[in-house]
Amino acid sequence: MKIFLDTANVQELREAAAMGLLDGVTTNPTLIAREKRPFRDLVDEICRIVDGVVNLEVVATDAEGMVREGRELAKIAPNVVVKLPTTAEGIKALRVLGREGTRTNLTLCFSPTQALFVAKAGATYVSPFLGRLDDIAHVGMDLIRTIRTIYDNYRFETQILAASLRNPLHVVDAAVAGADVATLPFSVFQMLLKHPLTDVGLKKFLEDWEKAGISL
Ligand code: E4P
Repeated sequence: MKIFLDTANVQELREAAAMGLLDGVTTNPTLIAREKRPFRDLVDEICRIVDGVVNLEVVATDAEGMVREGRELAKIAPNVVVKLPTTAEGIKALRVLGREGTRTNLTLCFSPTQALFVAKAGATYVSPFLGRLDDIAHVGMDLIRTIRTIYDNYRFETQILAASLRNPLHVVDAAVAGADVATLPFSVFQMLLKHPLTDVGLKKFLEDWEKAGISL
């Protein structure tokens, strides 16, 4: 499973990139707005840091506007993937951008029927939002499982990008369900490596070493 970071924060991206675990990044208008920096300056820096795909989202709501914005975004760097909303206009824009060779990610997907249309239209990625479904008392992970079955039944190549993940268990469940990608907030990314027994064990090793007065 590929790991993307769901952030527009360059410090967070640098930290994950230094571990060599970063396959890509997803941004959205909320995450970009949070950084309070000129858009182009921020995005150029993100593209330099991330040795993988950089998902940038359009803000137009009509197909023509989305195509115009998508073309601009795709010009920024060869690793840019254009995020479009999962709407009828988004599907129309995906068709045009896809024909031009631009990779697309259909975002804000909340149902299997939306995911079916997204795959039939030839998107590179579909982004089901699990946490937001959990928030309204639906089992978000069921959506990933259903989409996986549909895509496997018909050999669709669209990759399932599990989004809106809120905790490490979401990541494990998404991996078991066969998501191709998980996009994580930095806080969740950090939690994945943490284990109290690792910290306790390391402390003890170092204390014993110190006490014995050994040097390398
Ligand atoms: C994905 O591309 C989205 O940016 C993200 O996962 C949304 O997550 P949220 O529901 O925590 O805002």
